[in-house]
Amino acid sequence: MKPLKRIAVTGGAGQIAYSLLFRIANGEMLGKDQPIALHILEIPEAMKALEGVQMELEDCAFPLLKEVVIGSDPKKIFKDVDIALLVGAKPRGPGMERAELLSENGKIFVEQGRALNEVAKPDVKVLVVGNPCNTNCLIAMSNAPRIPRENFHAMMRLDHNRAASQIARKSGADVSDVSHMIIWGNHSSTQVPDFVNAKVRGKPVKDVIHDKDWLEGEFINTVQKRGAAIIAARGKSSAASAASAIIDSIQALMNPTPNGHWFSSGIYSKGNPYGIAEDLIFSFPCRSLGDGKVEIVKNLAWDEFLKNKIKLTEKELMEERDLVSDKLKKRAQE
Ligand SMILES: NC(=O)c1ccc[n+]([C@@H]2O[C@H](COP(=O)([O-])OP(=O)(O)OC[C@H]3O[C@@H](n4cnc5c(N)ncnc54)[C@H](O)[C@@H]3O)[C@@H](O)[C@H]2O)c1
Repeated sequence: MKPLKRIAVTGGAGQIAYSLLFRIANGEMLGKDQPIALHILEIPEAMKALEGVQMELEDCAFPLLKEVVIGSDPKKIFKDVDIALLVGAKPRGPGMERAELLSENGKIFVEQGRALNEVAKPDVKVLVVGNPCNTNCLIAMSNAPRIPRENFHAMMRLDHNRAASQIARKSGADVSDVSHMIIWGNHSSTQVPDFVNAKVRGKPVKDVIHDKDWLEGEFINTVQKRGAAIIAARGKSSAASAASAIIDSIQALMNPTPNGHWFSSGIYSKGNPYGIAEDLIFSFPCRSLGDGKVEIVKNLAWDEFLKNKIKLTEKELMEERDLVSDKLKKRAQE
């Protein structure tokens, strides 16, 4: 048996966690030979509900699940964790401005970044899901100077999967025939799903879908606004698909990416080869060398259409960063 891996999940009584925890415990994220401990964080008001989730985890009798720790103190819950999935965040309340949401949730990620810095394994991999996830990730990273910056990711995989699925449906291909998908920028309605570099059965999408209007219009709009469409239909935000994307994200990070392929992840933009402003968490095409070591794929072309859209998502991220400047600490190292 491999040594135990400790996985922290925040927002443990929430709806994404309810789809996620059982899949992790069943070995779907790290493999059927990887024993795990779950460290689950919630706010005190939701501890009772989390106790119910813990009982259900026990009742599944998952052979790989060796330990479940629950609590509301990040310094206890993040102790010695190898992977931290930061899902918990406050939802946007009625009439709440973006600045207010950023400020409220920013506080959570200052506290959690500091706690990870103090007690997690030094090479912990951190995936931020709670929204606005790119800027929350920037806050957590800047408050955790002991942890390498490249270990921080904001989740873009749900957008990536949504885009691949739309292309598959339109082209009549199987979703596994769609490759080289990229989402550039922010996990928000300014994100840029890239149909210029994506492929269907190895051919450029534009050679398979001869409908420029659909690609530049409905395709991009559908992916950008999919979250809102799900809320309108279900009365609740996407949860099972978000949980599935968390599993895909961690698998993509931890396993070497096959030659010539890539995936989308929100990573620190410093030194990026695309001229994107530094000091953002921006989604780029990434490759993993295994064990969470990620590099940006270089030299991909943008047409004028993509370039203009990418400028907009970059601008939005710079504005978000300015709104939380009081929560960003200058890191001494690197
Ligand atoms: N990046 C993505 O692609 C993506 C996709 C879907 C949802 N999301 C985001 O994920 C987050 C969670 O979604 P959900 O549907 O599970 O929400 P939810 O409201 O059902 O659950 C969130 C949970 O987080 C808990 N929480 C709040 N503050 C916390 C803190 N400081 N520490 C620990 N737990 C805390 C809440 O008590 C709640 O139980 C939201 O911010 C949502 O917008 C991101």
